[in-house]
Amino acid sequence: MPNILVIGSLNADLVVRAPRFPAPGETISGEDLKIIPGGKGANQAVAAARQGANVTMLGRVGKDSFGPFLLNSLKSNRVDTSLVLEDDSATGTAIIVVDSNGQNSIVLSAGANGKVSAADVDHASFRRFDLLLLQLEIPTPAVLRAAQRAHENGLRVLLNPAPAQSLPDELISLADFIIPNETELSLLTGLPVNDISSAEQAAQTLLTRGAKNVIVTLGEKGALVVTGTQVTHVDTYKVDVVDTTAAGDAFIGGFASTLLRNVELEEAVKYANACGALATTKFGAQPSLPTREETEKFMSLRGRSSPEAISD
Ligand code: RIB
Repeated sequence: MPNILVIGSLNADLVVRAPRFPAPGETISGEDLKIIPGGKGANQAVAAARQGANVTMLGRVGKDSFGPFLLNSLKSNRVDTSLVLEDDSATGTAIIVVDSNGQNSIVLSAGANGKVSAADVDHASFRRFDLLLLQLEIPTPAVLRAAQRAHENGLRVLLNPAPAQSLPDELISLADFIIPNETELSLLTGLPVNDISSAEQAAQTLLTRGAKNVIVTLGEKGALVVTGTQVTHVDTYKVDVVDTTAAGDAFIGGFASTLLRNVELEEAVKYANACGALATTKFGAQPSLPTREETEKFMSLRGRSSPEAISD
């Protein structure tokens, strides 16, 4: 079974469902508050573990009650938490509003996530892992150091550049796969990204900056794979959307675990699309992440159509 190391954030998601997002200065009423385990790092760890991978998480939580709450969610999903450190800061939180269309709006308070350092990364042994999953809810120096150490130790690196921000070229060239959504790709490249053609152009500029493979997640339009030798659009599945929170994390966990089972790239993206689509059908971050059994069943019910090649 593949061994995945996730270095990233753990958040308690404080979620309220509301009919719509409030305008600036406006107060509106929503439903009851739900406290749900989240954080892009922890979500991706759980997503990969539910797909059958062996996963270890490195990060930081506070000494408050959210810390054990988040660790318990990881442990109950078979994620090894021995590299999660305790910090004097508060545990990371995300204030989330979900509207009636299932779209979300998120404000992060980094807390302990902001204390993850390059020294934390240096204290961990990378030798037993096959793949490293990285996002951007911890400081960039820690992310960069993790990518460098993964490279030195022969791990494959998947970088999810979320939340959107610009990045040094060194980090871009250390990643085997960069997986942004349209907003993140636009911010990374400074180019407008609003359809498949503009996504391809922006992804190509990342290749010129040293990226090896770029997979742009396009929501209901599926995903676009751009490598040095191919551009392939992979359709996704239509579902009734309840909440899009963590759909990207489900995609990445599904993609990482499938890639390590030596599945062809387009087939791994098709599988990841199914994971992302399934996650949107349930409310909340970690509770929405599908298992391998659920994903296989969904795909066999819906049919596995072949990916559509744009050019080779
Ligand atoms: O990707 C979804 C996650 O983003 C949420 O769980 C929230 O914690 C934010 O980090």
